[in-house]
Amino acid sequence: MRKPLEGVKVIELATFIAAATAGRFLADLGAEVIKIESPKGDPLRYTAPSEGRPLDMYENTTWELENANKTCISLNLKDEKGKEAFFKLLDGADILITNWRVQALERAGLDYDTLKEKYPSLVYAMCTGYGEFGPDKDLPGFDFTAYFARGGYLETLRQKDARPMNVIPGLGDHNVGMNLAAGILAALYQAKTTGRGEKVTTSLFESAIFNMGMMVQAAQYKGIGKTYPIDVREADNPFNTAWLTSDGRYIQTCMPDYNTYYNKFMAAIGREDLVDNENYFPVQNMQAKNLGTEVYDIVTEAMNKKTVLEWKEILTDADIPFSVAQSWEEILEDEQAWANNCFHKMTYDNGNERTLVCLPVNFAEMGKPEYNRGPLIGEHGPEILKSIGYSDEEIEELIDRKVLYVWDDMDNKFK
Ligand SMILES: CC(C)(COP(=O)(O)OP(=O)(O)OC[C@H]1O[C@@H](n2cnc3c(N)ncnc32)[C@H](O)[C@@H]1OP(=O)(O)O)[C@@H](O)C(=O)NCCC(=O)NCCS
Repeated sequence: MRKPLEGVKVIELATFIAAATAGRFLADLGAEVIKIESPKGDPLRYTAPSEGRPLDMYENTTWELENANKTCISLNLKDEKGKEAFFKLLDGADILITNWRVQALERAGLDYDTLKEKYPSLVYAMCTGYGEFGPDKDLPGFDFTAYFARGGYLETLRQKDARPMNVIPGLGDHNVGMNLAAGILAALYQAKTTGRGEKVTTSLFESAIFNMGMMVQAAQYKGIGKTYPIDVREADNPFNTAWLTSDGRYIQTCMPDYNTYYNKFMAAIGREDLVDNENYFPVQNMQAKNLGTEVYDIVTEAMNKKTVLEWKEILTDADIPFSVAQSWEEILEDEQAWANNCFHKMTYDNGNERTLVCLPVNFAEMGKPEYNRGPLIGEHGPEILKSIGYSDEEIEELIDRKVLYVWDDMDNKFK
């Protein structure tokens, strides 16, 4: 089956996760994505210990997640010959994805203004930490900082008086990468139909603000809503929270329109006596009398009397929107996730079988993309250079000059 992006060539000059996610998505859709790395490789190759995994270049689940279906060439771009090879690669490319900081791109002569002269139809896609402009445009950014902290997650999504939540890697980055991919695809359409390229940018910070948009906007209405962080008992809508069950699990319910659900929910939790209660219904009465905490306590008491399995049955029967708060281990076994192609089973050369997560966008005609593990450092360098006209002798010379690095069991070298 033909894939939507077959024939599209992407050069990915990117490290870590966010920008690489965009490249991974395009690769799954059939684009040829060539990742360019330094000889030591992307720092993401070495993050296993922070994620509670063994450091192993040959079994690197995070690396697959961000870089499956790509090829890799390791070129020293600070060498003139390396830069020359880079430009030859770019000659045939439709898209360049980068997350280098703008000042590094400028130092290397790879900034947009320089490249657009030479490559007018190129889609130049850039991920920054804090955006292209403003006083902090040059700062290093990661999702822990630019997205979770500055983007408002840490300060608002915590229980009042508690410390900020534990953040985990990749969460913000994946969102940013898919935003970038959306922009790239529109710009690619334009480039293919008009011959005009475009610079597409997003940042960790901007993506976080967009995600937070509803509440950032609502925060202007001072004195009406609550100032976050709030105590969960004091939420404006007490039905949008997580309830502790008798066996120690949390069930999150969501009833954005309190009034639509109030009677149904009260009946489901065994409080038929509170149906149509004028203190708690409609929401305007409950809020005017400031009785949200009472509603919270009533539901808490009820939810605490039954197990998670009992509640699953009751809430499903009552058609109340809910989900059990799952652990990562449970997600790996979730039948619903398997039914929707969320996972791929990979057997590594060492015999280990691991479950890898797939991208969350499905194409009915294309079907599920194949899953080729992420490339080793410089694994495809010689064949990539051959495809753009380099001879065996020229390639050998680049290897000898240490401009081109080709994978050679680095397990011990970088431990
Ligand atoms: C991630 C980040 C903090 C890393 O910062 P950094 O390690 O200081 O790297 P920079 O992006 O500033 O610069 C890249 C450097 O690597 C060099 N480099 C990268 N690949 C190279 C190669 N193949 N050959 C030679 N040099 C290479 C660049 O030339 C540049 O070096 P210089 O500073 O000497 O000019 C930064 O790139 C950033 O903020 N990016 C935007 C946000 C982002 O994507 N964050 C990660 C989210 S997962």
